[in-house]
Formats: sequence, C-alpha cells, structure tokens
Amino acid sequence: MKVVHSIEELRDQLRGQNRTAFVPTMGNLHEGHLALMNLAHHHGDPVVASIFVNRLQFGANEDFGKYPRTLQEDIEKLQRQSNVYVLFAPNESEMYPEPQNYSVSPPSDLGDILEGEFRPGFFVGVTTVVLKLLACVQPQVAVFGKKDYQQLMIVRNMCRQFALPTEIIPHETVRDADGLALSSRNRFLSDAERVEAPHLYRVLNQARDEIRGGAHDIERIEADARAALAAAGWKVDYIALRRQRDLRKAAADEVVAGEPLVILAAAKLGTTRLIDNLEV
Ligand code: PAF
Repeated sequence: MKVVHSIEELRDQLRGQNRTAFVPTMGNLHEGHLALMNLAHHHGDPVVASIFVNRLQFGANEDFGKYPRTLQEDIEKLQRQSNVYVLFAPNESEMYPEPQNYSVSPPSDLGDILEGEFRPGFFVGVTTVVLKLLACVQPQVAVFGKKDYQQLMIVRNMCRQFALPTEIIPHETVRDADGLALSSRNRFLSDAERVEAPHLYRVLNQARDEIRGGAHDIERIEADARAALAAAGWKVDYIALRRQRDLRKAAADEVVAGEPLVILAAAKLGTTRLIDNLEV
C-alpha cells in the first residue's frame, strides 16, 4: 500500500486507472471501515482510501480537537487487513490551502433536518469535502456506510445532480455482537456506558417490530422509543420514522400501504453522541 499526502502524488499513483473504487474516512479505522474497503474491492480496482478529519463538518462546540487521530495504527491495520492500494492522507493545508470559500449546500428539506437540525452546517462540510475528495480521486465508485443514512442519501443526490461520474454504493451497518453499530466515537464510552449503548439498537428494533406488527401511529411509536431511552439516562436528540426515499414524514395511510420506512436516531450517552438507524 502506498501512502500519499499530496493531491499531486495521488494523481501520479492513479494515472491511467479507470476502475478506481474509493472509501473516504476520517480514520481511527475499525471493522466497519474495513468492510467498506472489502466491498469497494468487489466493485473496482485499485481501491483508494482516504483519511482526513474534516474541520468543515464540525460545529464550534463539537469534538474536532478530540476526534481520535491514529494514522500510524490505521496504516498498519490497512497494510495487514485490506486490499487498499493507495491511502490518501492529506493534512489540512493540502486540502484547504486557502479558506474554502466555495461550498456545496444540500437542499434544506434534506440537509437541515435530523442530523442537520442538531448539527447546523454539518452536511455543507460533508458535501464540500466529499466533492473535493471525489475530484482528487476521480473514482468510478465510492462506498458509504448506511450507518450515516442521511449522509449517504445526500452524497448520492449530490453526485446525481452534478452528474459526477461516480456511482455511490451503500454498505450495511456493521455491528458488534450485541448490536451496537461500530463507530470511532464508541471508544469514548465508559465501561458502564458501553454496556448500555446497545439499548439504542434494541429500541429501534422494538419500533420496527411494532410497525411490522401493523402499528401505524408513528408519533406514539417515536414517543415510546424516546421515553425508553430517556428512562435509561440517554439524552435523545431525535428518534424519527421517515420514508426511505426522501426522509420525509410518512402519513398513516402510507405506513399502512407498506411505504418503505427507516427509523433514525441520535442520542447522547454521557458525553458521547451515538447515531443509528434501521430500515423497516
Ligand atoms: O463519514 C465520514 O467519515 C465523513 O463524514 C466523510 C464521508 C469521510 C467526510 O469527511
């Protein structure tokens, strides 16, 4: 695996390639990331991964400074366990040599709801860096995890609307045996919080089972899920049942008619904010 830090070296490595598969990350790699890279290898060759902690997608009160940076460990993990051919690990001045005044704004009905409501500016930061990374790598396909469901949808729509020649491929959320979705932020959980953390997934499953069983009173289902987490000490940002196709609220008759839904959640356990979702 070649590790490159500049856009120029990256382009040198990829010259003449026309089936590049790309996995963008912010590092602190875990099995979930490696699964994305594995899937990328099914869709293209060479596989390129990036590690860049993107300041633009962190709000003023968020954990940019605290975000785990483990580049050396990540490189060793990729060398041992992945088919990655080039790792692009730019520093901040390579990605943003001047203030990034141009940005991409997702439409507000998708970008300002759910994660976008609780993390203003987050998706502008994500789409801007993803567009820039896609311009650097110029891949045929790029793999994104479904754990970041709204991000996946926004990136896919951006590629479609700008006619970017990159197909976005989703990967199912990778979970620990007890159901907790893998995330770089899990390392901030205390032992007791780690025991409690899979409760989020259990609550989503409960809501899904109710809908599968014929319930369609969405607000009551969301409220029950919120109450179950709050009773166990979580601070819930949102638990929302939405249509898979556009993340808008589904009317009761759509639920009855079998509209594909997704239950999305974000909640804090202590100081660690976790997100998860489940398709219905
Ligand atoms: O999902 C992530 O890790 C980030 O949002 C991404 C896509 C790498 C952009 O910084």
